Amino acid sequence: MSLIRWKENCLYLPHLADTDRPALAYVKGSRMGILLDCGNSAQHARLFMKELLLAGENLPKLAILTHSHWDHSFGMSAMPCPVAACEKTAEKLETMCSWSWTVQAMEERLEAGEESLFSHRNIPKEYPDLSKIVVKSPDILFEHTLTVDLGGERCIASTILSPHETDCVICYFPGNGMLFLGDSYCSVPVGEDWIYDKERLSVYIQTLESYPPGTFCIKGHHPPQLLWELLEELRAEL
Ligand SMILES: [Fe+2]
Repeated sequence: MSLIRWKENCLYLPHLADTDRPALAYVKGSRMGILLDCGNSAQHARLFMKELLLAGENLPKLAILTHSHWDHSFGMSAMPCPVAACEKTAEKLETMCSWSWTVQAMEERLEAGEESLFSHRNIPKEYPDLSKIVVKSPDILFEHTLTVDLGGERCIASTILSPHETDCVICYFPGNGMLFLGDSYCSVPVGEDWIYDKERLSVYIQTLESYPPGTFCIKGHHPPQLLWELLEELRAEL
């Protein structure tokens, strides 16, 4: 799957379910471009950089993580730029930096509830050799919001109460009207099921309602959607 250009200043690499690769995006201004999420491996990150260069773009000057989950953060080791994340994401990644990556260690974390069955099954699909996993902590930390002036475009990264995780961040671009959601709209894998915490989902919906209905939403593991369409789907889950 190759890069898709959405408007002149935004490109994204669609998600790929085979090895649980989430969507990644690049948005540029006259001053710099930034990358949204780092991918599930160095290979995933490098594929994105290669495609960016083929599309005639420059490499990003900054990357922003939407949360700590492996599929969004393990590509950090191949980033050509600093990576920013909220404090909670940094805290989780610092813990994960000390994890060992053997079948036994992974099974122990699954039993202890530190990892979901879904991730436990998917990680070896991207990493047939588990020793290739490199976990890093971010370079730049923010507590609630981080605004980056790209030059004629802004990125407003904000923490959000989400049904998916406790460290979710969404990135809004008021110039082009794009909202990069990461997995913040997703439910949580519990065994074989996917479950929404309805209280958290309700607060999440209220937060998203403050953005224009025609906002173009790039979703971690599904095709992009206009905000009003996404909100209709989410309200049906309440
Ligand atoms: Fe996630």
